[in-house]
Amino acid sequence: MRSLLFVPGDSEKKLAKGLGSGADALIVDLEDSVALDNKPAARRMAAEFIASAKDGPALYVRVNDLSTGLTDDDLAAVVKAGPAGIMLPKSNSGEDVGRLAVRLRVHEAEAGIEDGATRIIPIITETPAGVLAAGTYAGTSARLAGLTWGAEDLSAEVGAAATRDEAGLYTDLFRFARLSTILAACAAEVAPIDTVFPNFRDEAAFLRDTREGARDGFTGRMAIHPAQVAVINEVFTPSAEAVAEARAVVDAFAAAGNPGVVAIDGKMYDRPHLKRAERLLARAR
Ligand code: COA
Ligand code: MG
Repeated sequence: MRSLLFVPGDSEKKLAKGLGSGADALIVDLEDSVALDNKPAARRMAAEFIASAKDGPALYVRVNDLSTGLTDDDLAAVVKAGPAGIMLPKSNSGEDVGRLAVRLRVHEAEAGIEDGATRIIPIITETPAGVLAAGTYAGTSARLAGLTWGAEDLSAEVGAAATRDEAGLYTDLFRFARLSTILAACAAEVAPIDTVFPNFRDEAAFLRDTREGARDGFTGRMAIHPAQVAVINEVFTPSAEAVAEARAVVDAFAAAGNPGVVAIDGKMYDRPHLKRAERLLARAR
């Protein structure tokens, strides 16, 4: 999944619009973008939307976090509609993924859905404890489909006045959270997914920021506005050039009988290069 577009779960209009946005996935939101009074209506709307949607984008639901007392009602409403997965905000550690997985198992059994069909993507940097526990996600659940991160909630928890400096670069706290997410996802062998970019009218800054994410190892990104989707898809689709280069590396190793190192056009390629090339080809597929 390259692009995951957030859609407020209580907006029929945006839900419909999301389907035609070109996003690989929609994240139907029951959390921050839905007011408390609107949660019951949003749950019903989300469930109907998921049940009636056919072969469009993958449909995830962002539920309210495990400390709110709202999560069970969220899950009871939407799991039976068969979403591709659940996004868990404010995850404090791999244990929270385990707690969610247990609940999903019950809801799947009640709805006659195959055990394990509902995947999980936690947002792992919204609490200070969560950032510090980034290494605990590996092996927590076969449902894990990716890890993502968030800056806004962390800034509120820490009391940071801003997430970026005057030049638009993340301050150290958020760079740490961002890098922790890439490392944690790779350690858990799932997709590292970059966070949202709230300033959706600034397309140049968004493109730059998204490219930096791809350079550093993210394989997809969340969007908050349909206009961001095409940029994300473009940046995270391996270019024909990159694919050809990766294919040349893989072919050179194969032709040489799979040695430790080969030379292509006067440059050395060893095992890490082969691994990178194989990963790129897997993503291109
Ligand atoms: N999903 C689907 N459709 C969306 C959308 C989204 N996330 N954001 C905007 N649209 C639609 C609008 O409804 C509008 O439709 P229209 O042309 O039929 O009227 C069109 O795209 C253009 O929207 P625009 O006027 O540029 O923005 P807006 O002022 O209506 O909305 C936001 C701005 C931020 C409120 C809106 O983008 C949004 O709700 N984003 C998601 C918020 C969210 O889920 N946050 C939680 C995660 S951080
Ligand atoms: Mg939030």
